[in-house]
Amino acid sequence: MLYIGIDLGTSAVKLLLMDQDGKIHKIVSKEYPLYFPKPGWSEQSPEDWWKQTRGGIKELTAECDKSQIAGIGFGGQMHGLVILDKNDEVIRPAILWNDGRTVKETNYLNEVIGKERLSECTANIAFAGFTAPKILWLKENEPDNFAKIDKIMLPKDYLAYRLSGCFCTDYSDASGTLLLNVKNRCWSKEMMKICDVREEQLPALFESYEVVGGIKTEFAEEFGFTINVKIVAGAGDNAAAAVGTGTVGEGGCNISLGTSGTIFISSKDFRVDENNALHSFDHADGGYHLMGCMLSAASCNKWWMEEILKTEEFDKEQENITKLGENQIFYLPYLMGERSPHNDPDARAMFIGMSMDTGREEMTQAVLEGVAFGLRDSLEVARSLNIPIRRTKICGGGAKSQLWKKIIANVMNLKVDVIESEEGPGYGGAMLAAVGCGEYENVQAAAEKMIKVVDTIDPDMELVAKYEEKYQKFRQIYPAVKGLF
Ligand code: XUL
Repeated sequence: MLYIGIDLGTSAVKLLLMDQDGKIHKIVSKEYPLYFPKPGWSEQSPEDWWKQTRGGIKELTAECDKSQIAGIGFGGQMHGLVILDKNDEVIRPAILWNDGRTVKETNYLNEVIGKERLSECTANIAFAGFTAPKILWLKENEPDNFAKIDKIMLPKDYLAYRLSGCFCTDYSDASGTLLLNVKNRCWSKEMMKICDVREEQLPALFESYEVVGGIKTEFAEEFGFTINVKIVAGAGDNAAAAVGTGTVGEGGCNISLGTSGTIFISSKDFRVDENNALHSFDHADGGYHLMGCMLSAASCNKWWMEEILKTEEFDKEQENITKLGENQIFYLPYLMGERSPHNDPDARAMFIGMSMDTGREEMTQAVLEGVAFGLRDSLEVARSLNIPIRRTKICGGGAKSQLWKKIIANVMNLKVDVIESEEGPGYGGAMLAAVGCGEYENVQAAAEKMIKVVDTIDPDMELVAKYEEKYQKFRQIYPAVKGLF
């Protein structure tokens, strides 16, 4: 049988066709615009997502035996606020995970409701990108739109809704709304009250590998599929990526170098770090995870290459970078503010330490290193919780760069296991579909069968020591400059 994984990303939707053994048959990527209507704001049109997904499904399955398609699963950008009125019309553009407009509402939640109360109800505190502060922002700033809300959903759930008519989400993605009681896997009545939403406005909750419904007949006909195609809930993109790299069960670690950068630690049991510096969310395998998220990771390099150096030749720019551990330039990767660990939507990026002999290689290297140092900040929180992490998987667009993976291995002092495909969320989405359709007993069994490590990058102790010194300097920069932002 064949399974489709749909990774609804921030720059594009990536669709992947896979068979029951995990062999990838085809990948299609379709871009859509990202709007920044004001500094720090970030929006997209759900209609763009749907249009590109619909076209993408046709392109993806153009040459295959369509009668073999059994299921569709998702990985989606998390936290985005998608709102529909009673006629199922999208009320306004979606407000995304990296949008920083909700400083006031985030402060209200953390300081007036209180971090302790939030953590008791949800296992998390408020961050500007989470969904609940966005709902409060909407109530205050766009009351007419707020009054029209019939359904609140997350980005990937909009695709499932269009395809199946099922108003649903999964626990991993719902965790990032700050409306879910993560430990008990149910909507928090108290949080609903605080945000003035009713349970019927929220989607039905499913495990990521559960079938939510069947494909609508009109789309089965349009795509040439049978009407037996099942729609599986899928997961937030980080949980889906973790599934797609085999980061399931106890003690796995995955780094995702996409538009955002995340470090994801899977566990069987629920846990929460006492300062809530890491997110405590449900996992797509039925368990839990801790996660640190930086808002700009591969997007820092994309910005530096495309907007500043005006080049598309990412590999060529990295060819002459040879002096690892020697760079005198630092880069703070906060182009869209920062989530973990600083929780500061107003933070901004900067270069520091240039001299007359600084060239573009050092600046490019500083960008790659700055992102690795930012991820290390979250790793340090995990280490302070005595979570032993010695190796990690890696995925996302940035993971295509051998140099970047080497920098990460040495900055973090971790063995980096490279798997066959870096298509984390799309692959994970397809795997969840295969589990939902009964191809595998559970997510763990699917991962054991499908995920193969093809290379490991070992840290080099001399380089680790050099980077340790650099990291200790890097971590002094943000506290020194944060008053400027
Ligand atoms: C995770 C987060 C990002 C988005 C990116 O908390 O906000 O990783 O999911 O798509």
